[in-house]
Amino acid sequence: MNILVVGGGGREHAIIKKIRENRQVTSIWALPGNGGIAADAECVDIKATDIEGIVAFAASHRVDYAVVAPDDPLVLGCVDALEARGIPCFGPRANAAIIEGSKVFSKNLMKKYGIPTAAYEVFDELDAALAYLENAPVPTVVKADGLALGKGVIIAQTRQEARDAVISMMRDGKFGKSGSRVVIEEFLTGPEVSVLSFTDGKTVVPMVSSMDHKRVGEGDTGLNTGGMGTVAPNPYYTDAVAAECMERIFLPTVRAMAAEGRPFKGCLYFGLMLTPDGPRVIEYNCRFGDPETQVVLPLLESDLLTVMQAATEERLGEVEVKFRPGCAACVIMASGGYPEHYAKGYEISIPDDLDAQVYVAGAERRDGKLVTSGGRVLGVTAVRDTLREALDASYAAVRRISFRDAYYRRDIGARALRAKED
Ligand code: AMP
Ligand code: GLY
Repeated sequence: MNILVVGGGGREHAIIKKIRENRQVTSIWALPGNGGIAADAECVDIKATDIEGIVAFAASHRVDYAVVAPDDPLVLGCVDALEARGIPCFGPRANAAIIEGSKVFSKNLMKKYGIPTAAYEVFDELDAALAYLENAPVPTVVKADGLALGKGVIIAQTRQEARDAVISMMRDGKFGKSGSRVVIEEFLTGPEVSVLSFTDGKTVVPMVSSMDHKRVGEGDTGLNTGGMGTVAPNPYYTDAVAAECMERIFLPTVRAMAAEGRPFKGCLYFGLMLTPDGPRVIEYNCRFGDPETQVVLPLLESDLLTVMQAATEERLGEVEVKFRPGCAACVIMASGGYPEHYAKGYEISIPDDLDAQVYVAGAERRDGKLVTSGGRVLGVTAVRDTLREALDASYAAVRRISFRDAYYRRDIGARALRAKED
């Protein structure tokens, strides 16, 4: 089988490595892939947002199955366009990807179907938003409606910060069209859990839970990033919480999307907060999380491609989706200065006898060498029986990898370890 994977980060590298385990797979194309993915797939220089280019490539090659991993091509209708050419895909169509593409859509969906989430108001007009903020409780959370590279959420500690956030989005166009509508919502507290799930539009099968570390600095300080590390499973996500989430959140969401005529097929990501009043949805993503995928897929025992195809063919209920016991930890090695300004082009040295898996996110090949080309450069994952062992193994590998100005958090998993000891 010939597989096409759209995307080019650490998440896609993890997906590709897992898909390669299937013996029927003969070749994998990654569009665009990256310098590290090139070791596991044939990379073709077509951008993930170039839907026409992707479809033209797929139509002129014998692609048997396509996996569209990032949010923007999904929201732009990449799956619809590939399906129109007869290519079966893993990933939602545009009318379902809107669950991530528009926060207003997802908030209204949750309200309509009674799915627990933070209370909120939607604003199209700057003056109305500012008037609302006069009396809004703080902290409060301001969210741009559309995709904003993961940066469209501002936790405002004061009314002035909230006003500044609203003005920057609605008047100054900070996120372009994505910020012309905003959601202002209740500030919630509690541990966060990421749950990725497979769904075929009817059946939903949650994967092992995980915990992301979004802030750049140790102790969860500093700017938000795409994610500095992950662990799985998430110790706060007990069996009782999982059962409650299935009944009150996962199934109701999948049924709601079907009832709206927008059946969701693919990976539906639930970003949850376990508040004192129970689990609440913080966000939905229409795709695998990054870097959650780098800890979740290494724990998947079942064949990924088989499960993906079952989701596409609406027979997810017939396949086994099994995770191995044990824990996974992923530490992200980033370019110094990320998520703000950082230099690129530094040579990366990775010993070949590492006892860990290296997923490459931001690197390219230059003169036969792997050099940095992005903010998040590598995700280093280890799987062991216990979380502590997985973390130790991941950090041991990280310390043997080098590139100039490499930065990583030294406290990935610390909160999860504390939770286990509670
Ligand atoms: P997002 O960009 O949607 O992933 O949100 C970024 C982060 O903002 C989340 O991971 C949460 O930590 C935080 N956040 C979002 N919404 C809320 C909320 N209503 N209350 C508290 N924190 C929130
Ligand atoms: N790690 C969060 C996300 O993928 O959106």
